[in-house]
Amino acid sequence: MENEIKSVVVAGAGTMGAGIAQAFAQAQFETVLVDLSEQQLNGALNKITSSLKKLAQKGKIAEGEIETIVGRIRVSTELKEQPDADLFIEAIPEQLSLKTEMFQIADAIFKPHTVFASNTSGLSITRLASATSRPQKVIGLHFFNPVPLMKLLEIVVGESTSKESLHVAMWISKQLAKEAIVVRDSPGFATSRLGIAMAFEAIRMLEDKVASAEDIDKAMTLGYGHPMGPLRLTDLVGLDVRLAIGENLRHSLGQTQFEPPALLREMVKEGKLGQKTGRGFYLWDISVS
Ligand code: CAA
Repeated sequence: MENEIKSVVVAGAGTMGAGIAQAFAQAQFETVLVDLSEQQLNGALNKITSSLKKLAQKGKIAEGEIETIVGRIRVSTELKEQPDADLFIEAIPEQLSLKTEMFQIADAIFKPHTVFASNTSGLSITRLASATSRPQKVIGLHFFNPVPLMKLLEIVVGESTSKESLHVAMWISKQLAKEAIVVRDSPGFATSRLGIAMAFEAIRMLEDKVASAEDIDKAMTLGYGHPMGPLRLTDLVGLDVRLAIGENLRHSLGQTQFEPPALLREMVKEGKLGQKTGRGFYLWDISVS
């Protein structure tokens, strides 16, 4: 079945959707990136081109490949444009109701053979699968930002996910040159549960004036060898994204360490969402993507 996966539709042209579409196009899959907003789609294509240029500068791809890779990505505002795609991946905002509705709509559009994947950071794959008539073909494919650089693919197996769908996911991971981990469908999976716990503690430490943002980050980069401190990473991922993941974890696991810190809520309310808006725990130059 895996060899039959040739075409991919990615819904949601935000940071993750753009990165996922790029990763598939680089791995030679014909890819359609879908979003309601044309502006968002154009922004995604610009981001993809600038990422590919960086990769070419570093000799990771040839300069001449940029056009070919971008040429494999078609953008569209219509989900129903390619109903016979082999793989459908949603990378829309982290809200169960939105994702459930997206899967219901997609279920009516795509052919029965199409495998459905969610890039959710921690919502239940089993619940998303139950919104479709093909729960055995629904799986979690959790990517990491920046998708073209991060090696991990977290594969999440729902209660109804078939062995065949897991094989397809493992095959996809190999094609994209990622390392896969396979995780049971439980809130926050492996990565978000650990990542959010550390990020929220770092924000609470900032609230308690334990140290500056720079020094809290240095504690983890220089003391623990992390490539990036938890506050800078929250800026990269998006404060709104981490707030949404934290709220889901607090709700599903009921543990107080997942209660979003007041400072995070305040900053999101003020539009300080991190790198994408130019302000988070740090200041960012938004003219450079
Ligand atoms: N495409 C191509 N190249 C990129 C890029 C992109 N999207 N983003 C950065 N780069 C390049 C930079 O241009 C830079 O190139 P040079 O070395 O030629 O200057 C190179 O990558 C290294 O970047 P930086 O010098 O800016 O910084 P760095 O050495 O710290 O590396 C990093 C950047 C790879 C992002 C590294 O800091 C890192 O691994 N950080 C942790 C990221 C992480 O934890 N991601 C997971 C977030 S959680 C998530 O995504 C899941 C979720 O559910 C929300």
